[in-house]
This record gives sequence, C-alpha cells and structure tokens, in this order.
Amino acid sequence: LAHVGYSGVDSGASYRDKRSPICLNPNDRSMNVNSLTHDVFQHATPLLVLWRFQGEEISGLLAQADEAVEGAISRAIDSGDLKGKIGESLLIYAAEGSDGAERVLVLGAGSREKLDAEAARRLSGRAIREAEKRSIDRVTLGLASVDSLTPSALVQAVTEGGVLAAWNFRELKSGPGEGDEGEGNGEEEPFTPVETLELGGHLEQDHLEEGVRVGVAMGRGENLARTLQNRPGNVATPSHLAEEATKMAQEWGLSVRVLGPEEMRAEQMNALLAVSQGSVQEPRLIVLEHRGGGEGDPPLVLVGKGLTFDAGGISIKPAAKMEDMKFDMSGGAAVIGAMRAIAELSPPLNVVGIVPSSENLPSGSAVKPGDVVRTRAGKTVEIINTDAEGRLILADALSFAQTFEPAAIVDCATLTGACVVALGNHAAAVLGNEESLVEEILAAGERSGERCWPMPMWEEYRKQLDSSVADLMNVGGRAAGTITAACFLREFVGKANWAHIDIAGTSYGEGKLSYQRKGGYGVPARLLAEWVRSRSE
Ligand code: BES
Ligand code: MN
Ligand code: ZN
Repeated sequence: LAHVGYSGVDSGASYRDKRSPICLNPNDRSMNVNSLTHDVFQHATPLLVLWRFQGEEISGLLAQADEAVEGAISRAIDSGDLKGKIGESLLIYAAEGSDGAERVLVLGAGSREKLDAEAARRLSGRAIREAEKRSIDRVTLGLASVDSLTPSALVQAVTEGGVLAAWNFRELKSGPGEGDEGEGNGEEEPFTPVETLELGGHLEQDHLEEGVRVGVAMGRGENLARTLQNRPGNVATPSHLAEEATKMAQEWGLSVRVLGPEEMRAEQMNALLAVSQGSVQEPRLIVLEHRGGGEGDPPLVLVGKGLTFDAGGISIKPAAKMEDMKFDMSGGAAVIGAMRAIAELSPPLNVVGIVPSSENLPSGSAVKPGDVVRTRAGKTVEIINTDAEGRLILADALSFAQTFEPAAIVDCATLTGACVVALGNHAAAVLGNEESLVEEILAAGERSGERCWPMPMWEEYRKQLDSSVADLMNVGGRAAGTITAACFLREFVGKANWAHIDIAGTSYGEGKLSYQRKGGYGVPARLLAEWVRSRSE
C-alpha cells in the first residue's frame, strides 16, 4: 500500500459527496517468515521460543536449550513453575557473551496429543505478543514434529498464527509524538511491529518451506481482508473496495471486472440497485478470476457480501453499536482476501470471486418498506424491511454467479443478527442445498480454525417468506432468522451446488485470541482458500 485513500474526485461518488480526504499511513507491512537451514542453537536471535508439552520429561529441543541456559529450564520444571499448561511461560536471559539466543522463552503447550492446528496458531500468536511487549522485532521458533499434525500442516499453522498476530491496523493513527492518545497512563509507547519470524528446529527443510509458503499466503490474504474491514465507511466505500480489489488483482495476476450502476441496469440487478439507491455512493460488483484450470472447466465461485455501511435504510437501526456496521462488508473482504491467497498459491483450478458492494442508508431516494423489485433472476421481492438488504444484493450476485456455470458456489455474509443469537461468536452458521458441499465447508472450517455449524433448510421454513403481492418477501419473521435468510438466497442459486456461511457473529470482535486484535478478523478468508485447496487435491 503506497498511499491509499482518494483524491477528492472518487469515481464512485457524485458531487454531493462531501467527505473530506483522510490520509492513510501505509504502516501495516506484513511480517516475513523464513525457514532456517542451520541449527537453531547456533543462530543469533533476540528471542528463541520453544514449547513445553505437559507432563513430559525434558528432551529434544528443550534439553538442548536447557544446556544452553545452564539448567534454568529444568530447575523451573522441577520447582513446578513450568508444568506445560497452556498460558504458562518462562523467560530466561542467556549469559553475557553467549552466542545464539539472547533470550529463551518457553511456552506451555498443553498436552502433546491435543496439539491441533488451532493450538499451534494460538501458541505462535502468543510468541508474537510476547515479543511485541518487549519491542523485539525478530522471533525465532524452534519446532519438532508431533503425531497429531503433518509437519507441513504444523508449520502452516504456526506461520498463519505469526502472520496474523503481527498484523496491526495502524494506518489511521498519526503515530507517536503526533497526537497518539494511547490508553492507560497518558502516553502510548511507540509500537514496534515484529517484522520477522524464523522457523527452525527438528523438521525437514521441504516441510518447513511448504508450510511457510502456504501459511504466508493464507495469513496475508486474511490480513488484507482485515485491513479492508477495519477501514471506516467514509474510506471503504464500494468504489474503494473495487479499487483495492483491482490493485490486488493486478499485483497477483487475477483478471478483474467491475460493474457499476449502468452495467447493473443492463444486467437487471434491480435488487442490488434498490439497496444502493438511498446513497450518493454508487454500488459496485467486483468480479475476480483465477484461471488455474482448463479452459471451460467449471469454476468454484466465492461470493461475499460487501455492504460497506448498513444503517438499515428506512427501517433504520438503533444507534447503539451502529458503528460496527462498517463491518457489514466482511464477507466481501474475506472473498477478496481469499482470492489473494488463491492467486499466490495458484491451485490448478478455475476460481471466481464475486463481491456485490453497496451502502444501505435512509434518504429521500431510498427504497421503502413495501416496495417491490424484480431481481436479476426474474423473481419479484416485496421489501418488507429495508434492513434485510444483504440477501437482496446477494440475490442478484448469486444469480449472476450462475453465468459462470459453476461447479459450486459458496457465499459468506454478515447476514443475520439471529446467527449471533444462535451460535454466539464461536462458530459461523453453514447452510446449503447439497449435503456433501456443506460437509466440505465444515471440514475446511475445522482445518482453518474458522469453525462452522450446520443448520437445516427444510421446506417448512421457506413458507415464512410467502408474500401476498410478490413472489417472496425479504423477511420471514422473528423465528429462525438465519434459516429463512438462507431460504431466501436458495431461491436465487438455480440448480447450482451452493453453501452459505453466515459470519455475523464471527467476523469481528474484541480480539480475544492471541492472533487477533479488536476489530475485523478477516474470516473466513482462510476457510475459503482451504476449501479451494481441498478441491484441487
Ligand atoms: N448486517 C445485518 C446483520 C448483522 C447483525 C450483522 C449484527 C452483524 C451483526 C443485516 O443486514 C441485518 O440487518 N439483518 C436483519 C434482518 C432482519 C431485518 C430480518 C437482522 O438480523 O436484524
Ligand atoms: Mn441490514
Ligand atoms: Zn447488513
């Protein structure tokens, strides 16, 4: 990112757009991850991080480290200070003049059998946070193989955790000494990002390199999604998303096409146009393509809701937490991020990413409750509640997706508050019209740590959408809101194999995990890229 922002005449806004320009600091460079070819104990580093599994005799890397620090680790273990539980840590400073590590940090890693990819991601995030606290910009992690994960899956997970943890959204902060407010006692300490993660230890070089390659692509793709999510509504407009997607596509060799209102009218995308008609910001529909498969091979299509600010429209939302509705483009951000990862990994498949993008605002020109629109697919919709806008823009995007004659369509969207009620913040809902596709998404969710949970789509639910004046209504009442929203989408996927992921509860939050921060999480960018990868194996 050289200098993002806009120059006053934003292609997507009319003369009535009175936004004042805001400078974005390009200071969220991504961390580098290197695999070490030599012995980690011969490697000069400010911080060497090792794991201690619970209840094990000291051996392997830990025994080597113990020798280097003259028995300090075994003394800590013998004293009961370092049992190996998750959350424990021991920091040791090496003797003056010793080569190798200046500091050794031993993290409790829990029981060895329970070390899955998510545990590895979190441990890696912990290491980055410990370094950050001490303004250390380079971290070395010593790894050895475990039975519960393949070596490359272990390295991938550790790499993802590191790349995700090191990311930070600082571009709207003025920086130290220039009015940075900071929390706590007045002055914020200057922030030193961790710039390098080095991986070494007892693993084969091939596995190290493969895991780093995949993990870096996954992590950076998800970080791009996070950056787009965190940008406020006055920066991340539909045209801004289109510009950023275009830049990314050009950098990574994807083909890109952007539809504006004229093209949408030609395509009869009247539901998408209806949602955007209340705003001075023009809608965009972004189409990214990775052509890794044969000419004419049916592509996998990813669709993401790119609602850059959801005020609810005429059915306006209450003020509390309305600012969070800048995150209503999280599905679109995840698709753009996933496409970046896919471009970098370049699987031998055709993949299309589609992001319908709009604002949803109340105004004199806004769509009104009771209005009826004819969608691209030809079905008419009675818009009972203008706040159920995501399904409207997705309806036209899903219909458009079928022009690619896809092998499968997966969409993701911050679609319903009901999903947050049902599953909270620990799982996304997944629904679809093909059981094996839903299973594939559940499995990709497990591997990526971006967990999903299935919900049924029985015909009885569809009846809640019956309208007296049109083919269907855009809301199905209070009961089973996530399911009726999915039933609405299903009306627009035709015969395609399709799955839908409702990420309303998982796309942003307080940043509870070690590799997250408060704000957008970038999910399910890695899940989508994992799913695509699984289709190429
Ligand atoms: N973007 C919201 C859903 C949402 C809510 C996302 C909370 C993240 C957190 C969506 O457009 C919406 O407003 N849905 C309505 C639908 C209702 C009117 C049928 C909802 O869930 O209240
Ligand atoms: Mn809404
Ligand atoms: Zn919305």
